[in-house]
Amino acid sequence: MEIFKKGVFLITCGRGIMPFLHREVKQLGYDVLSSHETGLEIEAEYEECYKLNLCLRTAMHIMYLLKKFACTSPDELYKAVASVPWEHIISPTEYVSVVSVADTKHLKNSMFASQRVKDAIVDRIMSKCDSRPDAGPQRDNVVVNLFWKNNRCWLYVDTSGNKLSDRTYRKLPYIAPLQETLAAALLLAADYDGTKALVNPMCGSGTLAIEAALIALNRAPGLLRVNYGLMHLMNFNSENWQATRKQIKKSGKQQLAAKIIASDISPQAVDIARKNAQTAGVDHLIEFHACDFSQTPMPKPGGIVIMNPEYGVRMGQEIQLRKTYKDIGSFLQTKCKGYKAYVFTGNMRLAEQIPLQPVSEKPFSNARIDCKLFEYDLANEYD
Ligand SMILES: C[S@@+](CC[C@H](N)C(=O)[O-])C[C@H]1O[C@@H](n2cnc3c(N)ncnc32)[C@H](O)[C@@H]1O
Repeated sequence: MEIFKKGVFLITCGRGIMPFLHREVKQLGYDVLSSHETGLEIEAEYEECYKLNLCLRTAMHIMYLLKKFACTSPDELYKAVASVPWEHIISPTEYVSVVSVADTKHLKNSMFASQRVKDAIVDRIMSKCDSRPDAGPQRDNVVVNLFWKNNRCWLYVDTSGNKLSDRTYRKLPYIAPLQETLAAALLLAADYDGTKALVNPMCGSGTLAIEAALIALNRAPGLLRVNYGLMHLMNFNSENWQATRKQIKKSGKQQLAAKIIASDISPQAVDIARKNAQTAGVDHLIEFHACDFSQTPMPKPGGIVIMNPEYGVRMGQEIQLRKTYKDIGSFLQTKCKGYKAYVFTGNMRLAEQIPLQPVSEKPFSNARIDCKLFEYDLANEYD
């Protein structure tokens, strides 16, 4: 039975990331059928999701559309879901998790939708196979997604499983680490391609420097991860998966064309960043320094400097941080001539302390806080 044929994929991302996901998807050769703030649709053969999961730097989930249908009650939902031949999709020995997002008057809470979808799946498999998969909240096996908006439902199988930002190299976090997909999007927003130096003072756990190294080496971020939702489906083609991995690996480089430097005032953060980079296989390519940001070595003739200072959730912290942001301004003006500079922050009052006129301000969201990536062109600044 051919269930997984050429079809529609919904590729999701965080807020603010869509322009960069769109660009990546186009670069892989796909036409975008439709898009909104946090998701876009493409049409592709099912097994192309292997490449998409491995290669996309800014995507969060890659979901294959199984069915869309009209629906005005939980009973209709159950019937529609139970009509899918799940016995050919999920083995009774698997574990399945259902995630629902419902915005409809036909339902009191989306938990109930998940419950009905789960019941429909396991009842169908039980009736055909005499045994059924376990079900629960863990997302590292089969994940089924339901979106219910007004009178319409979309039912997907999530080929990623856990979110793609979990690259698995960041074993050790430090203060307020960026999601890996957001770090990749910030670098793409800065047009970083590895041809010029990249300096990341205040590196924390090293996410920006590690993602930069992966971009510069043209190394697919998904190669590091060993578990995906797609592996738990009955149609998993292990031979094709291995062949796709091998093919993608071949296009990665071994050496950088320009330096990547990461620094932090905390020796513990530098140690953590180095260890995370080691897990990602790029520690030997990044130059680490434990120092105040103002002492970070800046290679000539220039490149990109990107900083993600803390932005203070409490007022007391904010007052202390004012000086840090002022000092960032002085550092950029005096030490970063010839660089394009980027500061990523969620506090616009603090951003105003940087006495430079930004040439662009790109909106993002980090841990549900509205943030901006400010760009300063220091090509003509004097030291
Ligand atoms: C928000 S965190 C950066 C998180 C990082 N982007 C990540 O993904 O892990 C800010 C970092 O700035 C560092 N920091 C604070 N003041 C500093 C200073 N004066 N010089 C250098 N680093 C500093 C902190 O130690 C912390 O690691």
